[in-house]
Amino acid sequence: MQEKYHIVTYGCQMNVHESEKIAGVLRRMGYEEGSGTEDADIIVFNTCCIRENAENHAFGNIGALKKLKKSKPSLIIAVGGCMTQEKGKTDVLKKKFPFIDIMFGTLNLEELETLILRKKQQKKKVIEIREKEGDIVEDIEAYRTSYPNAWVNIMYGCNNFCSYCIVPYVRGRERSRKPENIINEVKRLVAEGYKEITLLGQNVNSYGTDGGSEINFAQLLDEVASIEGKFRLRFMTSHPKDFNEDVVLVMKKHPKICRLVHLPVQSGSNAILKEMNRRYTREKYLLEIETLKKHLPEAEVTTDIIVGFPGETEEDYLQTEDLVKTVDYASAFTFVYSPRQGTKAATMENQIPENVQKDRIMRLVELVNGLTRKKSEKYVGKIVEILCEDYDEKKGLYLGRDEFGRMGYFKSEKNLVGEFVNVKILRANGISLFGEIAGEDANAEC
Ligand code: 5AD
Ligand code: SF4
Repeated sequence: MQEKYHIVTYGCQMNVHESEKIAGVLRRMGYEEGSGTEDADIIVFNTCCIRENAENHAFGNIGALKKLKKSKPSLIIAVGGCMTQEKGKTDVLKKKFPFIDIMFGTLNLEELETLILRKKQQKKKVIEIREKEGDIVEDIEAYRTSYPNAWVNIMYGCNNFCSYCIVPYVRGRERSRKPENIINEVKRLVAEGYKEITLLGQNVNSYGTDGGSEINFAQLLDEVASIEGKFRLRFMTSHPKDFNEDVVLVMKKHPKICRLVHLPVQSGSNAILKEMNRRYTREKYLLEIETLKKHLPEAEVTTDIIVGFPGETEEDYLQTEDLVKTVDYASAFTFVYSPRQGTKAATMENQIPENVQKDRIMRLVELVNGLTRKKSEKYVGKIVEILCEDYDEKKGLYLGRDEFGRMGYFKSEKNLVGEFVNVKILRANGISLFGEIAGEDANAEC
């Protein structure tokens, strides 16, 4: 019987895609996907350490496996991802969870197969964390699980050292993939029928500046968007210090590039942006939005915001609120600042008390939700093109997203996953839209 794997993923899209690569490695080794932890022969935790709660979540889930491992000693438990790459974290993990068999990092994912084979031959645990980034390894075939969406890394690592952020410490410096490798991967995906491609990097706008590519991000985007076939193209994440008009002009040239830019602002206060080491001002940020809208008036923006950063006054916070209203984001990911050991901000004085942080996040979430709801209501009566992604058993409806990432539900007798469907929106509920296939007499259950 084939051995089974189970992968548990925490954190961002980057990690979700990395788990697809982990699945690729495991399948190449002959494992097949199991139905959960119970029937697995190997369980891999792909961890995230960007905020404390992501770490705690992983700790809880790993700890919960103690009994299972005891009753099934042949089970291999492997822990990888950002957490193992954190200084001193493998020692913490070893102490807390002596039953972990393998630890690997974000910088040596390609070694996973060797590490598993080594573990199978020895009783001792296998811990292999590379400290420094090596060359990009191109031959890991991801096992994709998100049809019709596909993620494609264009670069790895980050050079920015925002003062709150641990990513540069756990993912190393920026390394860009060669354009031909990216283009070939996208061509292959489009030929295989993928309908939405998202180019991934911590700061896609600095693509190539590490010397890994002769072309810059705008040129890469242009080339990828020139690939034939009907598909949507997205990219994330853009850094406001590097986002520029060239990229907007490429967007304008290619209708297949979604008119949605994820442009994390983090704070609306110049004083806080400076302390965060973001290297742009509120004014520069707003100017970029203006440039975007000048060329593409229909464009929408999403963002990331942190509240409760050390030293954030009520006045600073209100500037964030003000900026949120000014930009009128399509949606925003909002976070409470979480001190990360080893980062500059963790040692800053004037950390903000938890009750103040909580109060601000609640107010911000309310503001953002209000804006999102209002935008949803504007959809009612309109026909939007939805890329059908899945079927919701509970609702009995198909679902998918429009080019602005808005989730839409609709009824269909036919399986439409992977198809672009024109849906007439009948009702909005919070951030979700409900409608019927345009031109057909299909009633949505809304
Ligand atoms: N605390 C809270 N949020 C953080 N982010 C990154 N580091 C931290 C931290 N220490 C947020 C930023 C980033 C997103 C991916 O996570 O908003 O854009
Ligand atoms: Fe972290 Fe800043 Fe790099 Fe984004 S750009 S990954 S927030 S250091």
